[in-house]
Amino acid sequence: YGAAQVLVASNRGPVSYTVGEDGSLDAKRGGGGLVSGLSAIGSDADALWVCSALSDGDREAVRRGVGEDGVRMLDIPADVHADAYNGIANSVLWFVHHMLYQTPLEPVFDAEFRRQWASYETYNRAFAEALAEEAAQGAAVVVQDYHLTLVPGMLRELRPDLRIGHFSHTPWAPPEYFRMLPDDVAGQVLRGMLGADRLGFLTERWAEAFTACAERFAGGLGGTRIGVHGLGADADFLRKRAHEPDVEERMAALRQEIGEGRRTIVRVDRTELSKNIVRGLLAYRRLLETHAEWRERVVHVAFAYPSRQDLAVYRDYTAEVQRVADEINAAYGTPDWTPVVLHVKDDFARSLAAYRLADVALVNPIRDGMNLVAKEVPVVSDAGCALVLSREAGAHEELGEDAITVNPYDVTGTAAALHEALSMRPEERAERSKRLAAAATALPPAQWFVDQLDALRG
Ligand code: G6P
Repeated sequence: YGAAQVLVASNRGPVSYTVGEDGSLDAKRGGGGLVSGLSAIGSDADALWVCSALSDGDREAVRRGVGEDGVRMLDIPADVHADAYNGIANSVLWFVHHMLYQTPLEPVFDAEFRRQWASYETYNRAFAEALAEEAAQGAAVVVQDYHLTLVPGMLRELRPDLRIGHFSHTPWAPPEYFRMLPDDVAGQVLRGMLGADRLGFLTERWAEAFTACAERFAGGLGGTRIGVHGLGADADFLRKRAHEPDVEERMAALRQEIGEGRRTIVRVDRTELSKNIVRGLLAYRRLLETHAEWRERVVHVAFAYPSRQDLAVYRDYTAEVQRVADEINAAYGTPDWTPVVLHVKDDFARSLAAYRLADVALVNPIRDGMNLVAKEVPVVSDAGCALVLSREAGAHEELGEDAITVNPYDVTGTAAALHEALSMRPEERAERSKRLAAAATALPPAQWFVDQLDALRG
């Protein structure tokens, strides 16, 4: 047995490496809820994070034996990883759980899919074996997300002594949709998950959908317990980070782009279909069409950071976002007003700068496990923001009361919601924003993680 008492497993780990021109390795620590959540158990020598080597730098680090204490990167063969990550996780499983397959965009279960599925099994097995090797007797393991659904079952067979948890950061598809998967694959996914002692979800809705799938297709939950942990924004970290000099600098630059005395509608997303960025832009266009009084008086600041660009559907969507933004600017822009300020280069400091300047935050996903942007903007915005929020985001369960709710497919309704948000009286906006921020930070990442560990051990 190994020495680790607490183990986390996820595809994307807390650190990534790049090779410098002189051949040296440069480590960069990632942000995000899970990273700050795990720092709660701290520099605890008994904790280990198992993740994939994702970049050439990561692979080089594994080869040279370079690494951080408490992190083990798995150098899974690149083709196996590509099949599992691109082919299965971010195509089929992502699209099923976000219900993105709609004619004519349909899954294809051909020979290539079968090869990818075999790679997904290999990739999951590599994680299960590494965890089995590293875990101390009776240790707690928390496996993360749809990349690793088979790990709990595999690990249970290797190490029946462990406490095994799994947490889903995405929605879970309801049975009528989930059964789109080939029966054997659906069965493997459910049995893999049910190898865990405890499964965590972000909202009741996703937990119920999983339970319904387990009942319909796997004979029920067996001994597996289900819990809901609504990950919140990290208020202390965000407020501090949002006032550092690099953020102030970017605020000045953004103010230049926006122009004097204009309202701002802000959105920040990884660019992918579930985020519904194109319909958001179309809703903004409709606002300019139907409420001419906002022309030249509002700017839509849209940050759409490319994601999973190895896959054509994600690339095509990225291009469409750019095209629609350009069209709006060509149709409505004037020499001193750019209606849509679109940025695609990932820059966390600039995201925070936009959050601070936001009068309105637009978060309109088709379906989303939680959506932390909806929780972060009210915490950071200087004057308090109005939140236009899709009812299909997990965050809506906690923020719905003080947000302006939209049906993500309804472009006209979203345009009306934007108008309502822009027209909100400043006092009401500030009050609502305060309540949104309080609800958004109810369960900070560190507590979120500790709660799961306690429940798993309890
Ligand atoms: C979602 C998933 C995470 C994933 C993140 C970024 O939030 O739930 O597991 O890490 O997207 O996606 P990427 O493919 O870049 O890791």
